[in-house]
Amino acid sequence: MKHVLVIAAAAAAIVTGICHGAEPKYDFEEIMTKGHKGKESLLAKVLAKAASPEEVAKLVEYHEALAQQAPPKGDAESWKQKTGALLQASRAAKENASDENLAKLKETSNCKACHSIHQPE
Ligand code: HEC
Repeated sequence: MKHVLVIAAAAAAIVTGICHGAEPKYDFEEIMTKGHKGKESLLAKVLAKAASPEEVAKLVEYHEALAQQAPPKGDAESWKQKTGALLQASRAAKENASDENLAKLKETSNCKACHSIHQPE
């Protein structure tokens, strides 16, 4: 009987561990204000080829967290598609800040295209 308890406890620990690991590291406010908003944002710097390697890496982290967030509004499938494309584009820009990759990042980070569907009123 003791065995069963030990196993159950271990299983519970694993499950909590997984759930915890999947929690987004950053909230919307931080991702949007530091990552996206204005000329000093990470996105603006990356697009202007003025970001340090650390700043590019941080933008990728923000986009990873964004993709893990549930959309506050709108269709889950659309959210998955938009945040997935955005993450793919910032990862590509981190590997190589080519004009082509930056154009893709610009396209997938279109504020209005995402807000019009997923940002609550
Ligand atoms: C892939 C989707 C997506 C893209 C792209 C996107 N946003 Fe957002 N943004 C959201 C969502 C969703 C919210 C609403 C979050 C909430 O209120 O729960 C939001 C909220 C915001 C907020 C308010 C944050 C706060 O809580 O204070 C700002 C500012 C913002 N976005 C700026 C931008 C800018 C600027 C861009 C373009 C450069 C951009 N966003 C691109 C999804 C996106």
